[in-house]
Amino acid sequence: MFKNPIIVFEGIEGSGKTSHCNFVSKYLKKKKIKYIRLREPGGSKNSEIIRKLILNKNSNFNKKTDLLLYLASRSENFSLIKNNFRKKIILIDRFTDSTIAYQHYGLGVELPIIKKINQFLLGNIKPDFTFLNIVNKKNMKKRLKLRKKLNRYDKFDDHFYFKVQKGFLFLASKNKKKYQIIDSNLELDHNKDLIKKKIEKLIK
Ligand code: TMP
Repeated sequence: MFKNPIIVFEGIEGSGKTSHCNFVSKYLKKKKIKYIRLREPGGSKNSEIIRKLILNKNSNFNKKTDLLLYLASRSENFSLIKNNFRKKIILIDRFTDSTIAYQHYGLGVELPIIKKINQFLLGNIKPDFTFLNIVNKKNMKKRLKLRKKLNRYDKFDDHFYFKVQKGFLFLASKNKKKYQIIDSNLELDHNKDLIKKKIEKLIK
């Protein structure tokens, strides 16, 4: 593994990915290890502007426009990623797999287009390791209910999210060495322990 890897947290709504990303951020901070953290959509200033546009409850873009906006938000993060690549650890809350899982497996947008634009935007830069967080229907619903604000993408039906989750799992199954599946239906402390052990291996 590289000294300063790109580590991504993926998963559907309520899968615990952001909590796990927070946990890793705190761990690195405590250890005084240099890192940057991004989220997608969002992360950098312009990308956050695009995030507001996509996820606003009053927006009603079609699925191709959504795809282009998610990719536009990625494009606005690229200089941050490139400037820190292999200089600092890069943690990203959602990245390229989210686009394939949501826009292709969830919404049926053609996969070659997504791959082509990702390649156009990122060149050879790709995640070194991904924590794929999974959740069952009952826990997903419970966690979504606890959210104070629901955005436009928090409102699909269960069937959609589980199609997306299956897509994520398929991507992970194709490259098992680069993924760890975190079952967020299990105890948080158990998962934190698993993630910590993996992070220690990834960054040593
Ligand atoms: P979150 O960042 O709060 O998890 O929500 C972002 C939403 O955006 C989530 O529903 C997944 C969706 N999304 C896509 O559909 N495609 C993408 O490429 C990305 C990065 C996110």
